[in-house]
Amino acid sequence: MTYVPPAPSELAMVPFVSVENMMRLVNETGPEQVMIELAEFIEADFRRWPEFDKTPRVASHSRDGVIELMPTADRDNYGFKYVNGHPKNMREGFQTVTAFGVLSSVANGYPILLCEMTVLTALRTAATSALVGKYLAPEGSKVMAMIGNGAQCEFQALAFKAICGIDTVRLYDIDAMATAKAAKNLQGTGLTVLSCSSAEEAVEGAQIVTTCTADKQYATILTDNMIGAGIHINAIGGDCPGKTELHRDILLRSDIFVEYPPQTRIEGEIQQLEEDYPVTELWQVMLGEKQGRQDARQITLFDSVGFAIEDFSALRYIHAKLKQTDNYQMLDMLADPDDPRDLFGMLERAKG
Ligand SMILES: NC(=O)c1ccc[n+]([C@@H]2O[C@H](COP(=O)([O-])OP(=O)(O)OC[C@H]3O[C@@H](n4cnc5c(N)ncnc54)[C@H](O)[C@@H]3O)[C@@H](O)[C@H]2O)c1
Repeated sequence: MTYVPPAPSELAMVPFVSVENMMRLVNETGPEQVMIELAEFIEADFRRWPEFDKTPRVASHSRDGVIELMPTADRDNYGFKYVNGHPKNMREGFQTVTAFGVLSSVANGYPILLCEMTVLTALRTAATSALVGKYLAPEGSKVMAMIGNGAQCEFQALAFKAICGIDTVRLYDIDAMATAKAAKNLQGTGLTVLSCSSAEEAVEGAQIVTTCTADKQYATILTDNMIGAGIHINAIGGDCPGKTELHRDILLRSDIFVEYPPQTRIEGEIQQLEEDYPVTELWQVMLGEKQGRQDARQITLFDSVGFAIEDFSALRYIHAKLKQTDNYQMLDMLADPDDPRDLFGMLERAKG
């Protein structure tokens, strides 16, 4: 008789959301609705900011990229995301950014969710950008310039449509094929999509300017003369030491809003400024403790780098969603011997 090892106990099993199941989950609800719901989870967590353990992400830099761990916790849950950023990947047929994450119970330390986060990161980044846009973009903004038409691009466009009410995107990328891809993907979404042949052309008539390029250097995607009064800049792509997108002069003319200053000062556009340059924390704007946009002519800048609490909110959202769907698999991920001290015995018994 062949030996059949005992089945794993219930405690050993952790729900896992694969890329396939994430896509199913997003398509069942619709990406715009997912980002609306995600923005609600993110806003709820920003509004209880002081309750979280916070630290700048732990980054391992190498010649061509970075690998980062992004941990945070509240009283009930601990979460982290593993994420990379390798701008050269795209040319070699790989994604610039890939990610996965874990949500755990603080009470016993057991993971309660393992989740793909490449798709989820694009969704949470766009949901965060649009949520911030709700507080900072000029009232009645309808047109967004979208510079950098890579993996994040369509998510950003749809989130700003669903959450801020834009109706037009003006696309530009140094690679015309990226723009053509984004224009095709955005067909039939209700957005008017215009493909532009320069960044200058893309920002014409836009009230919101999103920069979402990937380049491992101090790039100048926007120069000072391109930004007039009454613009909201959503700067996504400058998110590592030595990797920025905006000319310093634009920063000096803007009111700058950030997620978590200790991390943004290392990674964001403001690495170009003095260490104590004044910035406003978004959670305080959301709580009404600090002002967001104050007048129609102000230039506001969201110096986005992506903070762990946004990923925590996204994992919390997916975990809640699992109760309504079967878009997950149970993974035998935690060793769970009958006698908690008899880990070795469990190994022995598995021999049969
Ligand atoms: N802030 C955040 O929370 C957050 C989250 C995810 C990704 N990101 C960053 O956003 C950026 C974009 O990510 P992605 O996954 O879309 O990358 P991607 O490689 O898929 O796309 C980047 C695009 O930028 C274009 N590009 C490069 N230089 C340009 C220039 N000078 N002008 C116009 N276009 C230019 C490229 O041709 C490419 O199409 C990356 O830098 C990534 O690190 C930030």
